[in-house]
Amino acid sequence: MPAVSYRIIAIDGPAASGKSSVARALAARLGFVYVNSGAFYRAITWSLLQRGIDPNDHAAIAQMIGATQIGCDLKENQSRVHIGGVDPVDHLRDDPVNRAVSAVSAVPEVRKIVTEKMRSYAQLHNLVVEGRDIGSVVFPETPFKFYIDASPEVRTRRRAAEGQRDEIATRDRVDSSRRASPLVRAAEAHVIDSSNLTIDGVVGEIVAQLKRKGLHEV
Ligand code: C5P
Repeated sequence: MPAVSYRIIAIDGPAASGKSSVARALAARLGFVYVNSGAFYRAITWSLLQRGIDPNDHAAIAQMIGATQIGCDLKENQSRVHIGGVDPVDHLRDDPVNRAVSAVSAVPEVRKIVTEKMRSYAQLHNLVVEGRDIGSVVFPETPFKFYIDASPEVRTRRRAAEGQRDEIATRDRVDSSRRASPLVRAAEAHVIDSSNLTIDGVVGEIVAQLKRKGLHEV
């Protein structure tokens, strides 16, 4: 039997670049599953904060990862994470999670488990996956890689408009400078500056690129 290979569209970029909205809209348009890798890093962060673990204590975090059940499934064609049997969706953007998530995501054991979960989705579905290391590390073999950026001013304004307290410059600095799978532009990624574009505008540009690259579903 021929191997089934699913399509993976990788979308990376810094905080508040617009990639979540774009990835969700693109997945809906193509009928692909939308996978939000940041939600997994956030869920792990929420869980360890609940347990009183210091987000800078790598050894304690690694131990917790080994001892905690992390599950993933789909809800309405979107990824969903469970941690220790709980769905933490309502807490993923809490201020303490925003503050601690970059430190937690720098821990290699955390990255390993989230990468495994991302790849498990690719066993069964066509995907639009968003994050920081999707094109560079999680799915380096996919030909469909995008990097979405926006000016720091626009990104700060977007977060504020969402009513969130989120030190995006600090997160970006930690995410870009960590040793394990830092935020980078994959060499072959198509870069889109979303500063002056609507979500539909960015989706349109991605779809045009996908057509050029021979993706038949679009
Ligand atoms: O995408 P979002 O802003 O929700 O991601 C939250 C945090 O999770 C990021 O600041 C980063 O530290 C981490 N992350 C990561 N790798 C990914 C996705 C998110 O390190 N692929």
